[in-house]
Amino acid sequence: MRRHAPLALGAALAIAACGGETTTSPPPPPVQAADTTPLRTYAAARGLFIGSAVDRGFRYAGSDGVQFRSVLAHQFDMLVPENDMKFDHLQPQQGTYVFVHADSLVAFAAANGMQVRGHTLVWHRQLPSWLTSGTWTPTQAESLLAAHVSTVVGHYRGQVREWDVVNEALADDGTLRPGFWADHIGADYIAQAFRAAHQADSTAILFYNDYGIEWPGAKADSAYALLARLRAQGVPVGGVGSQGHFQYAGGTPSADVLAANMARFAALGLQVHITELDVRVPVPSTADELQTQAQNYQSVVAACLRTAACNTIVTWGFTDRESWIPSTFSGWGDALLLDATYHPKPAFFAVRSTLKNGG
Ligand code: XIL
Repeated sequence: MRRHAPLALGAALAIAACGGETTTSPPPPPVQAADTTPLRTYAAARGLFIGSAVDRGFRYAGSDGVQFRSVLAHQFDMLVPENDMKFDHLQPQQGTYVFVHADSLVAFAAANGMQVRGHTLVWHRQLPSWLTSGTWTPTQAESLLAAHVSTVVGHYRGQVREWDVVNEALADDGTLRPGFWADHIGADYIAQAFRAAHQADSTAILFYNDYGIEWPGAKADSAYALLARLRAQGVPVGGVGSQGHFQYAGGTPSADVLAANMARFAALGLQVHITELDVRVPVPSTADELQTQAQNYQSVVAACLRTAACNTIVTWGFTDRESWIPSTFSGWGDALLLDATYHPKPAFFAVRSTLKNGG
C-alpha cells in the first residue's frame, strides 16, 4: 500500500505548480511550507464541527495511545464514543450503570476543547442479554426505555451537545425495522425516547440517525415522513444524522445529490449532520482508488458546506489502523483520512482544502 508523507506531498505539489515552460513571466514564488493547520481550525472558521468516533477499546487506551490521542485532539473538535455509550456498555445489568469508560472520553473531550456527540440511546443492536432474553410486557419495555434514556441523558446533562436518540429505526425498504424496541412497544418507542431525552436535558440537540438516507429512495422518503410526523406531533427532535458509510466511486453520493437530500430534511426545521463518515475502498488499495476516495470525501464536505443546517461532520474513526470496516465488510478497508501509520492520505488533504477554500 502507498504511504503518504504530508510534507513530501505538500512540497511535491508546490514544486509541480512552479514547473511550467514559461521563462519570461515573473519568477516563480518560493516553495510554500506545507500547510500544517489542523482540520478543526478550518472547520471552525466555517462554523462547523469536525469530529471523530473514538473507541476506548482501540488505541485510545493502548500502548501507542499517546500518538492516537494527540492526533485526535489536534485535528478534531468533536468526539463520539464509538461504542462506550451504547446500551450494553452503559447498563450491562438491569439497573447497574457503568459510566466510567464513557466518562473518560467525555473528560478527554472537555480537556481538549472538543464537543461530545452521544451515540446512541435506543438501537436494535448492542443490547445486553438481560434485556433481550427477558420476558417483558409492553408497559415494562416502555419503563425500561424511559429509565435508560433518562438516567444516561441525565448523567451527561450539559456535557453532551447532541444525542443520537434513536438509531436505525427503519429497514432498507423504509418500513419500521423489527427489533427489541419495535417488537415490544411498536413504532411509538421513537417518540417516547425523544420525549424522555428532552425531559432529562432540554438543551441537548436530539437526533434521529440512520444510514442509506443520503440518497433519494424509499428509505429517505420514509425517514422524511417519520421526521415530518414527529415534528408535527411536537416530539422534540432537532436533527437528522446521515451516517455516511460509503463505498468509494459510485457508492458515494455526489455533492449535488447529497445537498438536495439534506435540503429536504432541513426544510423540516432540522439540523442535518454527517455523523459516521467513512469511504471504504478494496484492500489492498491503489493510489488511483485513494484519489477517487479523496474526491468522494470532497463531495460530502462540499454538500455540507452548501447546507446551512449542516454544521457537523463526524468521521467514524480517523486512522486506518482502527476502523470497523475490515471486520464488517470483507475485502474492504482504508476508509479513513489517515493511513495506519497516521500519515494523511489524499482524502485528508481533500477534506482540509475543501474546509479551507469552500466547496
Ligand atoms: C460499530 C462500531 O464501529 C463497531 O466497533 C461495533 O463493533 C459495531 O458498531 N452504525 C452505527 C454505529 O450507528 O454504532 C456502528 O458502529 C456502525 C454502523
